[in-house]
Amino acid sequence: MNPHLTLVDHPLVQHKLTIMRDKDTSTNSFRRLLREISHLLAYEVTRGLPMTTREIDTPMQKMDAPVIDGKKLALISILRAGNGLLDGILELIPAARVGFVGLYRDEETLKPVQYYFKVPDELGDRLTIAVDPMLATGNSSVAAIDLLKEAGAKNIIFLCLLAAPEGIARMKEAHPDVPIVTAAVDERLNDHGYIVPGLGDAGDRMFGTK
Ligand code: URA
Repeated sequence: MNPHLTLVDHPLVQHKLTIMRDKDTSTNSFRRLLREISHLLAYEVTRGLPMTTREIDTPMQKMDAPVIDGKKLALISILRAGNGLLDGILELIPAARVGFVGLYRDEETLKPVQYYFKVPDELGDRLTIAVDPMLATGNSSVAAIDLLKEAGAKNIIFLCLLAAPEGIARMKEAHPDVPIVTAAVDERLNDHGYIVPGLGDAGDRMFGTK
């Protein structure tokens, strides 16, 4: 997939995203909208999947019909907010293999520290889609992609809902071979590393925590 950044500016995605951004949108609605947007983003992110044909019998005659080629793709959720995107994508691609990367930020070094890592085997033969709704500083995304590459992933796409220019630049510098697919590129990060205008803390909003 090329270029490095794909903006999914479909009206349905943009409309749903606006409702998600609204601070008065309930947890329930936020989750439902995220699931709906995940379907639309999954449609976009899988556009380039390789195809082959399989011979089938329709009620009328034989035909060579198109099917997706290659190994089942791998969806990797970057915990915990990644799970919100993961659920919806899995509804569209139920046969996908699933992995999880857990990282927390060391408050002294401000560097991401791994606390969980479990991914499907043969990553090198699978399209690997790493999902995290918010590409903010890019620190955890870069660290997650580092780990996926160490585990053998070669064909990786990073899928998010919102991206900050700072995070996009950081990813491009560290992983120029990893295309980013996002529904929006916002203005900037604030002093706390939050995306503005953004939607707040994606994990808190989808899980109803504070
Ligand atoms: N993570 C979030 O959940 N929100 C942001 O704005 C940045 C990082």
